[in-house]
Formats: sequence, structure tokens, C-alpha cells
Amino acid sequence: MMKNGVKKIALLTGGGDCPGLNAVIRAVTRTAILKYDVEVIGYKFGYKGLYNNDFMPLTLKTVSGIQHMGGTILYSSNKDNLFDYTVEEDGVEVKKDVSDVAVENMKKENIDVLVVIGGDGTLTSARDFARKGVKVIGVPKTIDNDLASTDVTFGFNSALNVAVDALDRLHTTAASHHRIMLLEVMGRNAGWIGLESGIAGSADVILIPEIPYDINKIVDKVREREEEGKLFSIIVVAEGAKPLGGNVVVNKVVKDSPDPIRLGGIGNKLAYDLEQLIKNHEIRCTVLGHIQRGGMTSTFDRILSTRYGVEAVEMINNNKFGNMVCLTGRKMSYEHLENVIGATKVVNPNGEIVEAAKAIGICFGD
Ligand code: F6P
Repeated sequence: MMKNGVKKIALLTGGGDCPGLNAVIRAVTRTAILKYDVEVIGYKFGYKGLYNNDFMPLTLKTVSGIQHMGGTILYSSNKDNLFDYTVEEDGVEVKKDVSDVAVENMKKENIDVLVVIGGDGTLTSARDFARKGVKVIGVPKTIDNDLASTDVTFGFNSALNVAVDALDRLHTTAASHHRIMLLEVMGRNAGWIGLESGIAGSADVILIPEIPYDINKIVDKVREREEEGKLFSIIVVAEGAKPLGGNVVVNKVVKDSPDPIRLGGIGNKLAYDLEQLIKNHEIRCTVLGHIQRGGMTSTFDRILSTRYGVEAVEMINNNKFGNMVCLTGRKMSYEHLENVIGATKVVNPNGEIVEAAKAIGICFGD
């Protein structure tokens, strides 16, 4: 039993999926049932399920065997903001605040607390539900690692491992053909995946949104390597990277998404631009894309997600509603959702990690 009488918890996963979601779902469910004898359900497709009252019971059986799996057994949506939701009225699509329907649905099912697992967009709605008096706990998810209140989001490490594996593979083929290989990685407007995969994957050039690049510096780096007898080069380019004085490359605009701009395309653009300046090497670009979000959850993320899930339930027992569970240093902590939203964590261009990369000769195009 919980000391505050909480008897039933609902979970939902929102925004882009990432490895570790299932591990959090499992940890919340197991802790709630085994430690506190609390019932758990999961709304399907994020907030959409909350609106449609579409849910599944989460039991020891339904969460069995899912810890290692990427994706989410609850499905996800990155479009459904119930405070600005598209509904059809008299055959016409209109935007409406339908959050009261969600609150009613929770009442109908006797839900005491809603645990929201998501990134900035999903947690913004969590904050808005908290403002309406709903008891909410947030759990920080995103491969981009760009939430300021927590040291690390779950999903980041798994994505990083995929990017490093890709770089290891590109190395052997680049060396065989004396090619310049570009790898475009995700991360939106934060360069964490690019920076850390580039260091771990022994890249020669890392281009991130926080450090606009001069293409001539990249050419200089390739030439410098040639002089050392290294006839191939590896370039990691984050999808949000841009040239000095230039713009990001937008792949598409997703209507109805809280963050409608989808980046992508800088890798191929840069490959083309470099081909105009470098004639003695072939240049190839690999866009890693959603491979970074799929597959198995890394060991690090399984542990982090488990800790987040367990802590979320402890926060419920301790009445810490309206907060998001965080990792601060090596410890679990929490931060109010009001302070979490919009606080983006980007790479410090003069920070220790960038300096370390520069010290070992990695070029950032600056
Ligand atoms: O936020 C996670 C992320 O994978 C970003 O790195 C990327 O820019 C975006 O989502 C891709 O979104 P979508 O799944 O809509 O293609």
C-alpha cells in the first residue's frame, strides 16, 4: 500500500520512441505491483489513448520479457497535443482544447496518478495537465539528450552505440577505398550524439549545431591527413549542423507536431559541397536515421531506465507530483515540470568535452 492511498497509476509514452521506454514501463509496473500493490494501466499511442480512453492493463505478465527491447509496447505519437487537438466538427477539422475529456477519462478509470514518459513536447502537456490539478510524474526520454534538468536522458546511450558501430564499420571501408565518409546522425538542435559518437568512433571531423563550420577547415583537415599518409577521412555531421552564416537543412515539416521541423539532409549537401573542393577522393554519405532509435536497449540504458521507473513510483509514494525524475551526478533526483520545459541542454562549444576532442586533433570546422 502507498502511504498516500494511491491505488491506480496510468502510464503513457509520447513523442518519438527510443530504446529504454519498455524498460521504464516494466520498472514502473513491477515496482508499483510488487512493492506497493498498486494497479497499473497504460494508455496507447500517447495522449491519443488518453483522449480515446484506449488503454491496456499493465501486469507482471504484460511487462515480462520487454526490458531489452527498443520501441514501446504502449505505442507512441508525436502529434497529439490534447490542449490543441484536431477534431472534426460538422465535417470540418478544427483545433480544440480537449484536455477535460482526458481528465474525465482518468476519473472514470479511477486513475490517481499519470506517469508521462517523454521529451520536451510530451512533458509540456504533462506540465499543462499538472496545472489542471492532475497528479503527474514525468520521466525524461530522448536519444537527443537535450533536456537540461537531467544529466542524461535514457535512449541516448543506445543511440550513441549504434552511431559508434556505424563509424567503426565506415572506417574499414573508408580505409580500403581511400574515401571520405560522412555519417549524418540525429540529435535535432543538440550535438550530443554527433560529439560523443565522433569521439568514440575516432572521427577526424565532427560537425555539430553549436559550432557552425567553415568548409575550408574541413578541406584543410583532409589535406593534413594526406600529408601524414592517411588517405581516408571520417566526418560525423549532426543533422542540425550548419555552415558559418548558413542555415540548417530541413527535411520536412510535420503538421500537428509540437515541434514540426524535421531536420535532415546536411550530410548529402556537405558531401556535394566537398566534392567541389576535393577532387582526389571519392566522397560518400551515410544517413543513419531511425536506425539510431530502434533495436535493442543498451546495458547502460536498461539500468538508467529501471532507476527512472523505480524512482517515479517512489516519487508517487512521496507525493512529489508535478515533477520529473532526473539523474544528477550519480544520484536520482527530481525537478518541477515548470522548470523542465523549454530548458534545452546543448553542447558547450568551449566545454571540456569539445576541448578534449580538439586536444586529440579532431576538427570541428571552426
Ligand atoms: O527527438 C528524437 C529524434 O529522433 C531527433 O533526433 C530527430 O530529429 C527526430 O526525432 C526525428 O523525428 P521523426 O521520428 O518524426 O522522424
